[in-house]
Amino acid sequence: MKQRENFGSKLGIIMATAGSALGLGNIYRFPCEAGANGGGAFLIVYLVIALAIGTPLMISEFIIGRRSRSNPIGAFRILTRQGSAWPIVGYLGVGCAFLILAFYTTVAGWTLGYLGKSIAGHFNGQDLAQIQVQFSSFTSHPWWPLVCQLAFLALTAFVVARGVKNGIEKYSKILMPLLLVIMVVLCVKSLTLSGASEGLKFFFSPDFSKINGRVLISALGQSFFSLSIGMGALITYGSYISKQDNMTSSAIGVVLADTLVAVLAGVIIFPAAFSFGIQPEAGASLAFTTLPMVFQQMTGGYFFCLIFFLLLVIATLTSTISLLEVIVAALTEEMHLSRTKAAIVGALGTAVIGVLATLSFRTGSPLHIAGRSFFDLLDHITALYFMPLGGLFIVLFVGWRMKRADAMDELTNSGTLKAGIRKAIYFIIRYIAPLAIAVIFISQLVG
Ligand code: TRP
Repeated sequence: MKQRENFGSKLGIIMATAGSALGLGNIYRFPCEAGANGGGAFLIVYLVIALAIGTPLMISEFIIGRRSRSNPIGAFRILTRQGSAWPIVGYLGVGCAFLILAFYTTVAGWTLGYLGKSIAGHFNGQDLAQIQVQFSSFTSHPWWPLVCQLAFLALTAFVVARGVKNGIEKYSKILMPLLLVIMVVLCVKSLTLSGASEGLKFFFSPDFSKINGRVLISALGQSFFSLSIGMGALITYGSYISKQDNMTSSAIGVVLADTLVAVLAGVIIFPAAFSFGIQPEAGASLAFTTLPMVFQQMTGGYFFCLIFFLLLVIATLTSTISLLEVIVAALTEEMHLSRTKAAIVGALGTAVIGVLATLSFRTGSPLHIAGRSFFDLLDHITALYFMPLGGLFIVLFVGWRMKRADAMDELTNSGTLKAGIRKAIYFIIRYIAPLAIAVIFISQLVG
């Protein structure tokens, strides 16, 4: 068998995984979900779930990936006996990657379009109403969003075709820290807008009476989405982690960074939204109207706006890369396609579904099923069904199907790392995480 590629360094692993985690999930989807689910109530539930369930699940994926050195389908096959049903979990993961990538590239395309708009100065001197019209006319334009989406997919395929070390790792390492810096600047600006405190109150004061089954499953789905867990993306990345790496600390670092960026996005968007009179429930348009408005208020706004959308495109690209990588790893290892062919096949397959998601934003589009746009439908079934179930099976696999000795061997790097805290993590993986995911999943099914 051909020698598999590995990530080059510890920093590379963290940056590539953080690159996968950080993206539209933090800056676009998190404020959408928090806005729709009561602000502070959602934040609290989200933090608990991301830290307490997200971290052990991320570590579980790393364990499966590094132990098997394989894509999600192969991983479950290698770690079980022949004829086992476990590889189905891998197939579901790869299918899920297709579905997520399809609707994710819709919004990814918008970020590219908005980069173009900021270069062309389309927001200069515009008021809120005009910026809102720009959003709806852009997203329902007959071909611009499609061109942007397909360009984004092509860019993703290009990087993935170049492989793990030269493509994925190199790009993530430099650009993620830069994004953080610009977000802190935006945060300061947003907090000094008049009326900002209303937004902070909305985001930070939890109304516990608002917590119900829907908030719980939405927070679970959001944390899985944001951390890229529950469908095998991090099994795939885990398979490139070297045997010496301390996976526990890598995972904790990524979860903390991802959570920080999501909270920062909230601190930027909610104060600004309240200040400009944008509803926190505004959904799809929330980030794409609020942010250009904030830039309007800043000295050097043109410049900041441009850099922000450039970095957002890059953060998004490192996420689409990780999604396509799941498909490509599966196609190269299971069907023996070359990397380049697999990247092209994966991108074309995604484009077919993705175009429908983009078209469903057009006014009066018939692409609605059961009251939801096709875009929402893909988002909904992946975040609320595929990922929670995938996550459940992943922790069950590590906690109950793998031998304890094998799991601990991965956690402690064959005994070279201290077992203490890792025993606690194993306990959460075996008992607490599956129970919590199952309870939340069932609580939304019953209402
Ligand atoms: N986590 C990314 C974000 O927040 C999106 C993403 C990348 C993802 N890879 C994934 C989501 C795998 C689920 C599964 O934008």
